[in-house]
Amino acid sequence: MEENKTMTSTVEKDHDIAEIGAVGLDVGTSRVVMAGGPSGHKAFSQLNAFVGVPYSKMTEAILQQNKMVYHRNGKELFVFGNDSERFASFFNAVPRRPMQHGVLNPQEPMGQQIIQAIIESIVPRGRKNELLCFSAPGKGEGADTNLVYHEAVLRSFLQTLGYEAKAVNEGLAVVFAELQNENFTGIGISCGGGMCNVCVAFLSVPMLTFSLPMAGDYIDSSVAGVVDEPVTRVRLIKEESLDLSRQPKDKVTSALHIYYEEVINSLVSKLREEFESSRQLPKIDRAVPVVLSGGTAKPRGFLHKFETAIKSGGFPVQISDVRIASDPLTATARGCYIAAMSEVR
Ligand SMILES: Nc1ncnc2c1ncn2[C@@H]1O[C@H](COP(=O)(O)OP(=O)(O)O)[C@@H](O)[C@H]1O
Ligand SMILES: [Mg+2]
Repeated sequence: MEENKTMTSTVEKDHDIAEIGAVGLDVGTSRVVMAGGPSGHKAFSQLNAFVGVPYSKMTEAILQQNKMVYHRNGKELFVFGNDSERFASFFNAVPRRPMQHGVLNPQEPMGQQIIQAIIESIVPRGRKNELLCFSAPGKGEGADTNLVYHEAVLRSFLQTLGYEAKAVNEGLAVVFAELQNENFTGIGISCGGGMCNVCVAFLSVPMLTFSLPMAGDYIDSSVAGVVDEPVTRVRLIKEESLDLSRQPKDKVTSALHIYYEEVINSLVSKLREEFESSRQLPKIDRAVPVVLSGGTAKPRGFLHKFETAIKSGGFPVQISDVRIASDPLTATARGCYIAAMSEVR
């Protein structure tokens, strides 16, 4: 008999919905992160990836024994989330991805089903019309009319989970999470897997937002292409040992430095361009801070490279300081949570 079902039993869902009140959700190309709950800012996350294998009773039993989260769709089993990485390496497979460049991946037929299963595995059911703020990218190359679709599909799914769902710009969420002491004035930047997102905010109001479809995935695939190594291997080297403050000592690291610099320079030039062409910006007479977040901002030396790019060639506004978010991987989710809390109170 064929059936559709999702097993999510291994993910901790110890948070008690009665105490939550508001939820923040970062729906990223690489990871889905939830913040909120009685433990305050503790965040739960799942990799936004999956691996499919043909269904058999035996395989299903093994997944259950190993407490892996999976989704069954008729004749196929899909291991998703954090387990997908380990599972993919068993089978020497590259995990599939529900999203690409910040939005639902049009080339992935299972994308919507899997992203829903991933969200359900970390987000508890909402009480009637409880508020959930989820991150959405800003407009940019590759993210334009498809943003409308992406947001609408997520919103309607989150409504079926019992929430009133509201989209919050990802860069603005970073401002909410990290610039409380600056009255939510400054530049929030999230450098993730599929894209970089930027928001210039004044007193919590987004004045300028945009996205760039170049980030961690772009670095991985570009490096893999020029050094002829599998993308997964390049990504692991990058995540485990890349130090951008030191001279590269082999081919892979040199290529990582080159593409990191390209992403940073493109981001800074786009920011300059957007400032120069924007008419609705108020006159900024004070220096503002820049906060960098997202997994791609994690390697040592990223901050310095970013500062160098800002300094060389000048910048249309004065920058007081550039800093890395307190926890780069959860900043967007925490900011979405703050946005939701501020409306509930
Ligand atoms: N320690 C690290 N060093 C370098 N890159 C990292 C590190 N940790 C995660 N990444 C990269 O960050 C990206 C994911 O960042 P994240 O903020 O989770 O993205 P998204 O918003 O797209 O879900 C991936 O490209 C991943 O390889
Ligand atoms: Mg993100």
